[in-house]
Amino acid sequence: MSGEKPAIGVFGAGWVGLVTGACFAELGHEVVVRDVLPERVEALQAGHLPLHEPGLAELLERNGERLTFTTELDEVVSAPIMFVCVGTPPTYSGDADLSAVWTVVNHLPSLEERAILVMKSTVPVGTGETVRSALDARGLAHVGYVSNPEFLSEGSAVRDFMSPDRLVVGAFTEADAGAVAALYEPLDAPIVRADVASAEMIKLAANAFLMTRISFINEIANVCEATGADVEQVAKGIGLDHRLGPHFLRAGIGWGGSCFPKDGVALKQLASNSGYHFQLLNAVIEVNELQKRRVIGKLEKHLGKLRGKTIALLGLAFKPNTDDLREAPSLVLASRLLAEGAEVRTWDPVADASNVLQGVTFCDSVLDAVTGADAAVIVTEWDELKTLASEEVRTAMRRPLILDGRNLLDPEQARSAGFDYEGIGRASSPLASLPETEEREHQLEA
Ligand SMILES: NC(=O)c1ccc[n+]([C@@H]2O[C@H](COP(=O)([O-])OP(=O)(O)OC[C@H]3O[C@@H](n4cnc5c(N)ncnc54)[C@H](O)[C@@H]3O)[C@@H](O)[C@H]2O)c1
Repeated sequence: MSGEKPAIGVFGAGWVGLVTGACFAELGHEVVVRDVLPERVEALQAGHLPLHEPGLAELLERNGERLTFTTELDEVVSAPIMFVCVGTPPTYSGDADLSAVWTVVNHLPSLEERAILVMKSTVPVGTGETVRSALDARGLAHVGYVSNPEFLSEGSAVRDFMSPDRLVVGAFTEADAGAVAALYEPLDAPIVRADVASAEMIKLAANAFLMTRISFINEIANVCEATGADVEQVAKGIGLDHRLGPHFLRAGIGWGGSCFPKDGVALKQLASNSGYHFQLLNAVIEVNELQKRRVIGKLEKHLGKLRGKTIALLGLAFKPNTDDLREAPSLVLASRLLAEGAEVRTWDPVADASNVLQGVTFCDSVLDAVTGADAAVIVTEWDELKTLASEEVRTAMRRPLILDGRNLLDPEQARSAGFDYEGIGRASSPLASLPETEEREHQLEA
């Protein structure tokens, strides 16, 4: 850094903290990012990005002059505006674990000058009010508090930060709201000014609505399977309606990731702690759990009992272009398959699941993963899998069955390449797919 006092401090060097720090540096600010993990900070100081996010490494490199990484509290609290980007994972009760947020708040020293604490972490409604009271009680009334929830998506986080659909700024005072809004002026995005509680709710409600759309189209897909319709055609027909729009209408094996699962449950808990039973959200979450498990039924439909069968899980990250494995459907699938007695071979171009999955074989290439497999399951829609239905893959597999959990392939193309193909909510030919055994007869009778 140039030696100037940082204009912006950031607590947390995870996805949100690093993207926030790097993007504000790109906008010309001196930024200091603090994390409590020394190995993370050392890696960043040495120019290594501890996570996979397209475009972020370049941004960090380009703005190295204006960006510092530290474990020291003193350095970050010298900034007049401090963004809180620490994790808020779920507790056993489903409520958000705010311990990292409280560590930040409680460890703020008695700052001489006026400063603003800006909450980017996703927190329950009411957190701002509670933090405000805690700051006041500690004689830190001159430290402002602003809720500025983050809406970036992993995989496109830099673009999302730099070209947001909107920014939400919830503050207790006009001056604090204005100071935070001013930082975003160069982005030329609509700014929604709100009270703090509403800003907190906007984030939770937006995520819940996105989850609802996905669970909705997944249920439509399941009904399509039962009735012979094709969900891809249905989604297109729905999405062109301007009142509905095309986004988050991709049928698949369900959502995962670091946000939807925990934020969905946190909102459900928040409602229930306030005496309200959020029936729709409960259903949305349950549909998603069942959707992941439907893959097992589909495999059994084709292969019979899975004991002793070899299944290739292609893609482990919860979505493409990230190495984030938090709540990834792949983890549920792998565990269920192992419990059924299947052998599981996996491949992912960037996600390393060796710390979270035991008993599976990790492969370096798609071809290695599918070799000898009775089925290949597309779990994450990585670009590399678009050419899965190839001659090379077909001959490597013990049985050429593709279960396309993301509707990534063209069913006709896959079938004409000699594969049995089954997607999600797409017309399938189940009888043609059954093994030439008594299981087939059994299914024919059923
Ligand atoms: N990842 C996303 O796509 C995304 C999108 C929008 C909002 N959010 C929200 O943003 C918050 C952060 O998410 P994330 O994915 O970046 O989390 P993350 O787990 O990747 O990173 C959090 C970082 O904070 C650090 N930390 C913990 N306590 C600290 C402290 N006292 N001081 C400094 N650093 C500390 C951790 O060591 C970790 O590196 C969460 O509330 C999340 O819900 C995440």
